[in-house]
Amino acid sequence: MENRELVMEAVKARKQAYCPYSGFAVGAALLCVDDRVFTGCNIENAAYPATNCAERTAIFKAVSEGKTEFRAIAIVGGPKGKEPENFCAPCGVCRQVMAEFCDPETFRIVLMNGAGEIREYLLKELLPLGFT
Ligand code: THU
Repeated sequence: MENRELVMEAVKARKQAYCPYSGFAVGAALLCVDDRVFTGCNIENAAYPATNCAERTAIFKAVSEGKTEFRAIAIVGGPKGKEPENFCAPCGVCRQVMAEFCDPETFRIVLMNGAGEIREYLLKELLPLGFT
């Protein structure tokens, strides 16, 4: 699957974001080695730390359905109800969760900004010297 197609799945998933506290909506789309895609959105909670990021929602959905091998994740985020402007990079906790399942040398993190520009990083670039 092309990066842009995966990003479009993240754009769709972002519409489901439950983010009444931050007003920041994130969507993610996770590509498995078998080409299946799991999507996720951020899900907030009145007790703020109970919030789950979009990336972890997608990864946990996949793992809970028996998938543990992944090629890439696309992420888009920005103020709810508006088109995203900036690239939305994954938080540290999500990078650590990616490191549990994904090969840092090959797993791709794909971001798109409001201008439609796509940037791609390897997990090893965003989480150097990760703990495993
Ligand atoms: N968020 C994500 O879903 N993914 C990230 O990588 C960064 C942050 C969410 C968490 C929270 O609901 C909102 O964005 C603001 O931090």
